[in-house]
Amino acid sequence: GHGHPGLIHRFIDRLPFDADDPIVTLQEGSTPLVHAKWISERVGAEVYVKIEGANPTGSFKDRGMCCAVTQAVKEGSEAVICASTGNTAASAAAYAARAGLRGAVIVPDGKIATGKLAQALMHGARVIALRGNFDEALELVRELTDKHPIALVNSVNPYRLEGQKTAAFELVEELGTLDALCIPVGNAGNITAYWKGFQEAGSSPRLFGFQAAGAAPLVSGVRVEHPETIASAIRIGNPARWEEAMTAMTQSRGDIRAVTDEEILDAYRLLAAKEGVFCEPASAASVAGLLKYGADGCERVACVLTGHGLKDPQTALEQSGSVLPCEPNLGAVEKAVLG
Ligand code: F0G
Repeated sequence: GHGHPGLIHRFIDRLPFDADDPIVTLQEGSTPLVHAKWISERVGAEVYVKIEGANPTGSFKDRGMCCAVTQAVKEGSEAVICASTGNTAASAAAYAARAGLRGAVIVPDGKIATGKLAQALMHGARVIALRGNFDEALELVRELTDKHPIALVNSVNPYRLEGQKTAAFELVEELGTLDALCIPVGNAGNITAYWKGFQEAGSSPRLFGFQAAGAAPLVSGVRVEHPETIASAIRIGNPARWEEAMTAMTQSRGDIRAVTDEEILDAYRLLAAKEGVFCEPASAASVAGLLKYGADGCERVACVLTGHGLKDPQTALEQSGSVLPCEPNLGAVEKAVLG
């Protein structure tokens, strides 16, 4: 085939699959690692951003989903299901379509970004808008999959973590040594996966996880009944991988900290305007945290930008300037262009 082969083939010796397994791939992984000049200068460290929005459905979820869906096919499942704040739904829907499986996704009604909803619907998943939040949705799909033979593809599924750990492999391959990783935390699957990946690669950067202040149970130590944040992807009050995230934090000598919506939005606009990198609000939590708390003596830092900015056009339009209306003649265009 053309280009890179997808992460299962690339890392097959470190994943629970064989080359003759029915591998489902959209050529995910091998995402760009971009030096962030402006942020580096601001924090006095060598800072890189890992652009996970460059995955086929626009988020890091594809890394885990290719593995979870491959395993579902291998086990003979005919359908997959997940609870989601949007990206897992988009990814599950795409990989289910590719594998010829039925897909159902349960999302909090009115609380997922437009692009993600469009993706899930376009890929033909059954989209269920729950009158409740993500935590309630996850609880319900867990109960449902106990009763019915449908594969659960949330990050409680260990194959999801296997796929997602490969991002740490890529970082170690490209950078050699890395002192710290900054990462947004919601359901806490990804921070858990990165820590597994770094350990398997013989590397141990400090892991700094960032939660939105209105949805920061891992910071406060108590479940958040009604999580709220503009970063809808991480609007989660009771992370499934709670214990594992705390272990990753402790073992790596890192921390889990909170950033406000305002700080998230500042980093979101700054990444787009100063670095030319458009990510979704939840992703900007990693950079918001680095800007807020500093590099803590770390020399080389990577921030994970988990999802593409186009996922959430509504927030982008609300956070940016307005267009300039213009009559179709040269004078008007000159005035509009030159100010
Ligand atoms: N960033 C984005 C863009 C996400 O979509 C998510 C999670 C996270 C960060 C946090 O990762 O949950 O592994 O700690 N999104 C899930 C979803 C919950 O349903 O799409 P996590």
